[in-house]
Amino acid sequence: MQAIRKRYFPALAEYIRNGNEASLYQATELGKLLNGINPEEIIAIHEECMQKIVANVESDEAVKLYNRSFIFLIELMVAYRFRLLPDKSTEQKFTEMREMLFHSNRSFEMVKNKYENVLQHMDSGIALFDSDGILSFINLQMAKLLDIPRKTLIGCNIREILLHRRINLTTKRIILRVYKETILRRNLYYELQHPDGNHLLVTVTYGDQLDGDFLISVKDVSEYKQIEQTAFQNDKLAMLGKIAAAIAHEIRNPLTSIRGFIQLLRPHLLQLGKEEYAKIILTEIDRANDIIYEFLNSSKPSAPMKQSISIVSLLREVVMLTESESLMRNCQVQLESYEDELMVSIDVKQVKQVILNLVKNSLDAIEELNGERTGLISVIARRDEQYVEVTIRDNGRGMDKTTMSRLFDPFFTTKEAGTGLGLSVSYRIIRNHGGSIRVDSQVDQGTEFNVYLPLVE
Ligand SMILES: Nc1ncnc2c1ncn2[C@@H]1O[C@H](COP(=O)(O)OP(=O)(O)OP(=O)(O)O)[C@@H](O)[C@H]1O
Ligand SMILES: [Mg+2]
Repeated sequence: MQAIRKRYFPALAEYIRNGNEASLYQATELGKLLNGINPEEIIAIHEECMQKIVANVESDEAVKLYNRSFIFLIELMVAYRFRLLPDKSTEQKFTEMREMLFHSNRSFEMVKNKYENVLQHMDSGIALFDSDGILSFINLQMAKLLDIPRKTLIGCNIREILLHRRINLTTKRIILRVYKETILRRNLYYELQHPDGNHLLVTVTYGDQLDGDFLISVKDVSEYKQIEQTAFQNDKLAMLGKIAAAIAHEIRNPLTSIRGFIQLLRPHLLQLGKEEYAKIILTEIDRANDIIYEFLNSSKPSAPMKQSISIVSLLREVVMLTESESLMRNCQVQLESYEDELMVSIDVKQVKQVILNLVKNSLDAIEELNGERTGLISVIARRDEQYVEVTIRDNGRGMDKTTMSRLFDPFFTTKEAGTGLGLSVSYRIIRNHGGSIRVDSQVDQGTEFNVYLPLVE
């Protein structure tokens, strides 16, 4: 033990002094001699020698010397561990050790790369800020959302990001809003609508698990929103149906009694020579009853009475029905499809009502241009996989995003004489047929409605 200690100090001191690899051979030699001494004792000797060596140096220099001394210690330990395997040369053992180290380093890199890859290809945008507020990571999706190359912003803080000339103003406004809502107000979630119409959900994660880092993720939740809105829409329609049915029911009852009394009065009116009054009252009551009956039927979510029909023949009929009115409004309605083999199984009356509603809306939208241009409404049917797509396109005044988002709401109208029921009823009818309606519109350019109905094979 004492002998070891005597040799240890000068060997270590020499290595620390000149730091070159050649002087490490003494560590290897010593390691082989350590038989019967346990590692704690070696470390104790090492510590003892180091204290002597660093006794007269500054503390930061001491740290450096300590670090260097560990290389000596490791070399010694390795020689000590491998001394019992005499069939392998030291050289080989070291090579194996190095390979092991190299290997573990590589697998660490691989794991790191894998995680980075996963983050890179997530469908959410991800940005990581460190505790000083510096952006340290951003994935592809986030770069896409911000519309910049991925590496441009790394190393910037929020101020620099907001002043960055590669980011457009709209995006900057959004970043500022998100920053206020999440970082300043400490909200963990923030939902916003991008001016292009997409709904984005921003989530912020920070705290102990992240070592003070802030993880910001942005997800496009437009689809979920759409589902949510459809559900909401259906609720409203069901409610509307119930109210309508209740009102119609309540009006029908008094109408029935009026009808009965008129019939009782009929002989007296006959005596007065006013029999035609009775006739008029009766027909008017019947008409009111018919209207209520129709309304009850159209607002009740009834199952459609289906029949197989060529969609183009139905469109032809609708175009004919609107011809005179469109002529009066200096407008042309054009049917642009002739394929009579596109067969659908539909309630003809209901679907005709839908197409009429859409064409009428187009006529209104053209009229609101006040003669700015000749109106043109195209009606097109074409196959789209298992569906037929009926397009009604106009060059009317179009509509803005707000109008578009409320289009199918019952009673939503921008017209003085409108009821706002046309589209909400149409929407429900198409839904009952297993189809859907889509809209695309541009202010001052026009509007396109697409109605999808399942084809009969
Ligand atoms: N083709 C279109 N071009 C421009 N705006 C449209 C078009 N179709 C619908 N709109 C807008 O959607 C609103 C709702 O339409 P909807 O058919 O449901 O009701 P309405 O036409 O106002 O009233 P109703 O059809 O009950 O008489 C309209 O008021 C209009 O602002
Ligand atoms: Mg309408």
